Amino acid sequence: RSFLILNGPNLNLLGTRQPEIYGHTTLPDVEAMCAAHADKIGVMVCCVQSNHEGALVDEIHKARGTHDGIVLNAGAYTHTSIALLDAIKGCDAKIIELHLSNIHARESFRHKSYISPVAIGLICGFGAHGYILAMDALNNHLETGS
Ligand code: DQA
Repeated sequence: RSFLILNGPNLNLLGTRQPEIYGHTTLPDVEAMCAAHADKIGVMVCCVQSNHEGALVDEIHKARGTHDGIVLNAGAYTHTSIALLDAIKGCDAKIIELHLSNIHARESFRHKSYISPVAIGLICGFGAHGYILAMDALNNHLETGS
């Protein structure tokens, strides 16, 4: 089993960017946590970050037939990107939408997500630990269908 952890715009600045909202954990820390957790649950993991919408679309295309599931934090593109929505519709990998912050407790423009309708589910508000929750949820979903 293989998972892609895909992070979008500005997430390369994790740890220094608005730490009161996004925490002090850096992206390399998050990726190391994901790699360690993947070992623990016996899955392969690949971590990618891009600030570019088209590059994220490319990664979703590449995931076809390569990854069984994607943990996707699309950052601000969550709220704007029909291109990401369409890419996910054409991809057979299962998607879990992830946000560090609770987007529903923030500005109203963050309440709309183009990803949610095509995701298995959404995890938000648990900071960096959300990535672990998402990997477990994905693994369980692939195992049991729930
Ligand atoms: C985010 C929430 C988005 O609204 C925001 O644009 C981000 C990060 C989160 O992880 O909480 O860049 O996806």
